[in-house]
Amino acid sequence: MDKFVIHGGRRLSGAVKVNGSKNACLPIMAAAILSEGACSLHGVPHLADIDTMSFMLGELGVSVNLQGDSLGLLVEDEGCSHARYDLVRKMRASICVLGPLLAKRGCARVAMPGGCAIGPRPIDLHLRGLKAMGAEIELHGGDIIASSKRLRGAEVFMGGPFGSTVLGTANIMMAATLAVGTTVIECAACEPELSDLAAFLNAMGARVHGAGTPHVVIEGVEALRGCEHTVIPDRIEAGTFMCAAAITNGQVHISPVRLDHMMAVVDRLRAMDVIVEKAGDGVEVSCARRLAPVDATTQPYPGFPTDLQAQLMALVCLADGNSVITEKIFPDRFMHVAELARMGAQIHKEGPTVIVTGCKKLAGAPVMASDLRASAALVLAGLAADGETVVNRVYHIDRGYERIERRFAALGADVSRISD
Ligand code: EPZ
Repeated sequence: MDKFVIHGGRRLSGAVKVNGSKNACLPIMAAAILSEGACSLHGVPHLADIDTMSFMLGELGVSVNLQGDSLGLLVEDEGCSHARYDLVRKMRASICVLGPLLAKRGCARVAMPGGCAIGPRPIDLHLRGLKAMGAEIELHGGDIIASSKRLRGAEVFMGGPFGSTVLGTANIMMAATLAVGTTVIECAACEPELSDLAAFLNAMGARVHGAGTPHVVIEGVEALRGCEHTVIPDRIEAGTFMCAAAITNGQVHISPVRLDHMMAVVDRLRAMDVIVEKAGDGVEVSCARRLAPVDATTQPYPGFPTDLQAQLMALVCLADGNSVITEKIFPDRFMHVAELARMGAQIHKEGPTVIVTGCKKLAGAPVMASDLRASAALVLAGLAADGETVVNRVYHIDRGYERIERRFAALGADVSRISD
């Protein structure tokens, strides 16, 4: 397994390019199952999760061909509609093949995702929505067995105890494109990745209205054609680089950035005295002084994203005072707390809330990556810490960040990848 060796204390400077959004690509790739023709997706990052989804689609009869950052997708065989457990357990986003398989082929066998380092990953809202559209669903040996001669439009409420569901909304949106009649999704998730999915679906001839709002209307059509689409920039990757500039007191130009997708993140960074200025199709982020403490609570979009909670926590570990961070989406998403404490961070956890007492310096140490975003937080802490930090099991990071060590090194960081 690979690890990163980081010698901290260097200010980052220069410019870094943001890749296409992983969380837009994954449901869009699944949506290709719905198409009668060839689809081309541009701006696709080279990530382990993209490879996993490509492999899974291959098993589902979709030919996938990556050339540079363009992905060609074409359904060639609809014989197998079984998404196997050993692929789904590696990437829970695989669940978003369920809706397209059911809508296009009338049947699907998809392994239940199970849990992961950030907590349980239930799919009850996905199944509730598909049942409302007439799907027969049963559980057998840990797999969801779903069937439907033809899905029918329905009114579907997608709210749960933690708000709406991003991939649940994606599943129902995709399933509804080929249903008979009109589907209304109430309490839909509003993340920009869903607006991007809707743009892809509509480019295929679907009729999706209101994506990005809690009220989405989908008029079913008979068939969907191939199309071309360029994915939106990855707002979580952009936010991670913003935090890296801030935590090293550096100055970095980050582009492309859709600032309208990142207002909650920019708000919290500016509250910490980080300078974030629009610059061309991106932003210039700098911080020449000690960070101010801040309070933050993760919320469904457009609130502060749970996927940047760990990275923000690394930042506030060095703030001049006490910060309070509350996690409202995945209350157990705190695997990074114990590892940051190994570097000298002062963090007190009370249920879904942590109180962080800022310290002047973190000390480098060997730490263990556990999930994608927690791992990114440990790298950020290592960039700022005194001495050497070794981040183990960086395969977690490779799931969502393309060769991030090279990109940090190009900004002046002393970071290298070592293969065990
Ligand atoms: C998406 O996961 C993202 N993944 C996650 O990013 C992100 O953290 C999450 O949305 C929240 O924004 C992708 O887009 C591939 P949810 P998803 O369903 O859709 C509960 C990353 O780091 N819930 O919106 O699986 C659930 O337990 C990943 O890139 C139910 O109760 O998340 C959670 O508490 C990690 N029942 C909350 O809703 C359900 O049926 C939000 O989950 C579904 C979800």
